[in-house]
Amino acid sequence: MTPMDRLSVVILAAGEAKRMRSRQPKVLHPLCGRPLIAYSLRTARVLADRIVLVVGPDAEGVRAVAGGDVQIVEQRERLGTGHAVLQARAACGAGTVLVLAADMPLLSSETLERLVKHHRKTGAVATVLTAVVDRPQGYGRILRQGGRVKRIVEDRDATDDQKKIREINTSVYCFEARRLWKALAEIRPDNDQGEYYLTDAIGILAKAGGRIEALAAPDPVEALGINDRKQLAAVAAVQRRRILDGLMESGVTILDPASTYIEDTVTIGPDTVVYPQVVLEGATTFGGDCVIGAGSHVSASRFGDRVTLRPYCIISEAVVEHDAVLGPFCHLRPGCHIGPKAKIGNFAELKKSRIGRGSKVPHVSYVGDTTVGENVNVGAGTVTCNYDGVGKHPTTIGDRAFVGTNSSLVAPLVIGEGAYVAAGSVITKDVPPGALAVERSPQVVKEGWAARRSAKHPRRDKDD
Ligand code: UD1
Ligand code: CA
Repeated sequence: MTPMDRLSVVILAAGEAKRMRSRQPKVLHPLCGRPLIAYSLRTARVLADRIVLVVGPDAEGVRAVAGGDVQIVEQRERLGTGHAVLQARAACGAGTVLVLAADMPLLSSETLERLVKHHRKTGAVATVLTAVVDRPQGYGRILRQGGRVKRIVEDRDATDDQKKIREINTSVYCFEARRLWKALAEIRPDNDQGEYYLTDAIGILAKAGGRIEALAAPDPVEALGINDRKQLAAVAAVQRRRILDGLMESGVTILDPASTYIEDTVTIGPDTVVYPQVVLEGATTFGGDCVIGAGSHVSASRFGDRVTLRPYCIISEAVVEHDAVLGPFCHLRPGCHIGPKAKIGNFAELKKSRIGRGSKVPHVSYVGDTTVGENVNVGAGTVTCNYDGVGKHPTTIGDRAFVGTNSSLVAPLVIGEGAYVAAGSVITKDVPPGALAVERSPQVVKEGWAARRSAKHPRRDKDD
């Protein structure tokens, strides 16, 4: 590869993003679970020999997500898109410079590849990716003369006639590097915003007699830019559907795509069925043949094969092994590990706990800071009392132990293998393996008590 064949991708991310009305940089706003900038970088990586990211001052967060293969340059003053590209000059060198804005995450690498190919084949000095859209408001318009691109006019600087043009600038361009730097040096900020517009480089190059090419994006949706939160939502809707389509193509059944929200960071194995109203977020993975019940909300969790989530499970930062059955209505707070074939039932809340293979917490329990062995039964209404108002304390329940209904297990506590806890007990001392612990007052039975009482105080009927 000669230096002239080199492709530098310059990503513009230094704008102030006033229209977002946000304290955080626009490119850090999440779109289906990833910051906006991650989409541009992912697309660029497919074809770039070098990636240069132009950031504004105070962009620590942007630097942090960029990755080691990205050269970062700072635009100290936000003087416009043309000024922003100029900051990348030293980092780019010779060859082809592909410029794109960081606020258009739907852009595909296939389209960029076509743009670069077209640019090189035609020997143009600049090639603009355009799109023909129904609502061009807000975008720069492509002005042609005799069919050839002459210049780009920004929406706010356009005449009424120019505003009717539906061919827009996507803000993605290929330039021949040497000619680009020369043109940028000639740009003047004589426009409504008083900024150095990159779009003016096209007019300058055309005037100098250079060949300007335009290539239309195959799907105008790729051109959608995000300037405000309404556009963020509109783009997210498209991306959300792309994610669902990708999952369905890979063998996942999604019963109601319209009500399903799955982030870009989620992977799901084939033959898993997703019921309506499901939200799956963050680094979440499901194996194959799982069932994800209606209304479940899962974030940053890993599931093996054949796991069943019955409806309305709320789960975060958990690991759930194969063939486990959860819910309906169970809540796994961060730090839970559920073993194979375990069962966590309705109204069970678990936190930082390990549940061994085949063990069950089937109904209405709180289990926190607890290690449960294999084939344990934790009865309905069992509560681990892990907090004494100052510190958290652990509970350990050995294999095959049986904890009777409505027990309070006051931690720190160890219940040995195969031990039994009688229903209704408040257990404060360790229970040795194989033992039975009962903590209950003896039951008192008073024969004939009811008859004696009603003789003394005759019972009145309700409507007396
Ligand atoms: C820009 C184009 C417009 C095009 C539209 C497509 C210009 C002047 N206009 O308008 O023709 O139709 O994109 O979406 O280029 N940025 C910097 N530094 C700056 C200013 C902006 O890095 O000083 C970055 C922004 O972070 C953004 C990109 O450049 O990623 C585009 O800026 P933005 O303000 O969004 O331009 P638009 O008004 O959308
Ligand atoms: Ca924009």
